[in-house]
Amino acid sequence: MSCPYKAKKMKIKVCGLKYKKNIQELSQLPIDYAGFIFYPKSPRYVGTEFNTESASALPKSVHKVGVFVNTELDELLQIGEQYQLDAIQLHGNETPKFCKQVKSAGFEVIKAFQVDENFQFENLKTYEEGCNYFLFDTKTKNYGGSGRKFNWNILKNYKGKTQFFLSGGIGAQDNERINKFTHDKLYALDVNSGFELEPAVKNADQIEMFVEKLENLEMSKNKYAVDERGYYGEFGGAYIPELLRANVDELQENYLKILNSEQFKKDYSRLLDNYVGRPTPLTKAGNLSKRYGTNIYLKREDLTHTGAHKINNTIGQILLAKYMGKKRIIAETGAGQHGVATATVCALFNLECIVYMGALDVERQAPNVARMKMLGAKVVPAISGNQTLKDATNEAIRDWIANPESFYLIGSVVGPHPYPDLVTRLQSIISEEIREQLEKENGNSNPNYVIACVGGGSNAAGAFYHYLDEKDVKLVAVEASGMGVESGETAATITIGDVGFIHGSKTMLMQDDDGQITEPYSISAGLDYPGVGPLHAHLAVSGRAEFLSATDKEALDAAKVLAETEGIIPALESAHALAVLEKMEFKPDDVVVLNLSGRGDKDMETYMKVFND
Ligand SMILES: Cc1ncc(COP(=O)(O)O)c(C=O)c1O
Repeated sequence: MSCPYKAKKMKIKVCGLKYKKNIQELSQLPIDYAGFIFYPKSPRYVGTEFNTESASALPKSVHKVGVFVNTELDELLQIGEQYQLDAIQLHGNETPKFCKQVKSAGFEVIKAFQVDENFQFENLKTYEEGCNYFLFDTKTKNYGGSGRKFNWNILKNYKGKTQFFLSGGIGAQDNERINKFTHDKLYALDVNSGFELEPAVKNADQIEMFVEKLENLEMSKNKYAVDERGYYGEFGGAYIPELLRANVDELQENYLKILNSEQFKKDYSRLLDNYVGRPTPLTKAGNLSKRYGTNIYLKREDLTHTGAHKINNTIGQILLAKYMGKKRIIAETGAGQHGVATATVCALFNLECIVYMGALDVERQAPNVARMKMLGAKVVPAISGNQTLKDATNEAIRDWIANPESFYLIGSVVGPHPYPDLVTRLQSIISEEIREQLEKENGNSNPNYVIACVGGGSNAAGAFYHYLDEKDVKLVAVEASGMGVESGETAATITIGDVGFIHGSKTMLMQDDDGQITEPYSISAGLDYPGVGPLHAHLAVSGRAEFLSATDKEALDAAKVLAETEGIIPALESAHALAVLEKMEFKPDDVVVLNLSGRGDKDMETYMKVFND
């Protein structure tokens, strides 16, 4: 499995930094990598006054890169550790074996190559294993830094699988050229001397304008990615009681570092493959396709271990908790699927597990309560409010405040930053697989539609993630409208909600005129939530995703149709996504992917009551 964290956004690296004041100026800009040159012959050599404090102005999200030329391994690793570098860029004659050694010491490795018309890209194969990225620069007699551009068309010959940084003389006038240049392995732009007032002093204003123009030109920069402060457009952030600040800060500081570490990627990937049962199939639903006159594919999250997408997230977060040395896990659950998935991974990792669940949900999702208990978790019913997911989340947060050494394992793309981003990344495996599977099936990784139900929004976020910047892919999110949008008995947050604050984040939520959160209602416990994750609020407000809704009855009917036509009993949550197939119009050659988030075993009691004939 390839890395699930490939953001679609094109990254920006500013290289050749040195002075603290200049670094502080740059820390305000949306850059992703900052390069420090440890090659004494370079005019941008960091020199002896440079220290970790100089670089500390940069946000944690900016990767610190040390640039080296033929430095001995021991010295290089020692510098890497001393200056707390995240990545090592190698500009000399370093061998594939050398790169591998640097990578296995825990650094991201960027190997630079100077290219011209005669460059043999096939020779880079031997470097693939030891490098996270390549960097293509202009061929010169020295080791780069010439300030000259090379003919980017040469890169058409690069067919390898490693993503690359584009480097060499990029300047303020190059926006348009960059916009026109496309390559599916282009990962980042490396800017340096083209934006300098003098060697190692960057013109921050010029860089800011350059990056802004890239956005205006709608480069591949992901408009829907979270920013460093945890916002998707106007939504998100971390609105939390002071007592939780240290916990949330700790998580913010660590999550990307851990998620991007080789060890985590290896462990996560292995567990997804061997424990969760990924990749899940993408099933062409022939009978359903006939019924709706189009091509419908079901992404079978119902076939994961424990029966829903929730485990993609819990497996990732439990690893994070383990790496952070946590021993006690708290979770909230609605349908019980997240509770079961959490209890499962806690059993696997031998950690204490406490699951809060609304008292009403305890009743209507009894099989899942029994599963959690059998897995060794303590299930605590929340008896406030409507006794559903919102109330369970309140209780879990209360527990976290009282037990700050615990790890709060959130089950959806909700909560304070970084949870929405963390959970989105962990669920992004869904769309990563869809892309690969569709490419194989149809020779085109993009469908016309991706449809998913939204409670907090984690299965939808995962199914949408790799398509967020693909404008030709229509994203359809389906909320539960309960007894009807206007009935007062609904959970259709986007349809009737407004901007507000819930569980630590600014988002859309259902509230009354005084701003009090209104009690949601849906037959489906997993969708019975008065808010949505901030990513979805942003997708709705920006118009990137269309939000539809389905009533209890429509969802029940859709569940029956799927069971009878395809032999698959869906979770009630997923049945809401299926229900909108009736309301949409498709062309015969459309490709429609519907994320079947879970299986219906847990809902059999409800189904039996309704379909008792
Ligand atoms: C099967 C299934 N699908 C969907 C959901 C809704 O959650 P989310 O919107 O986070 O995917 C749940 C929640 O419990 C679920 O169990």
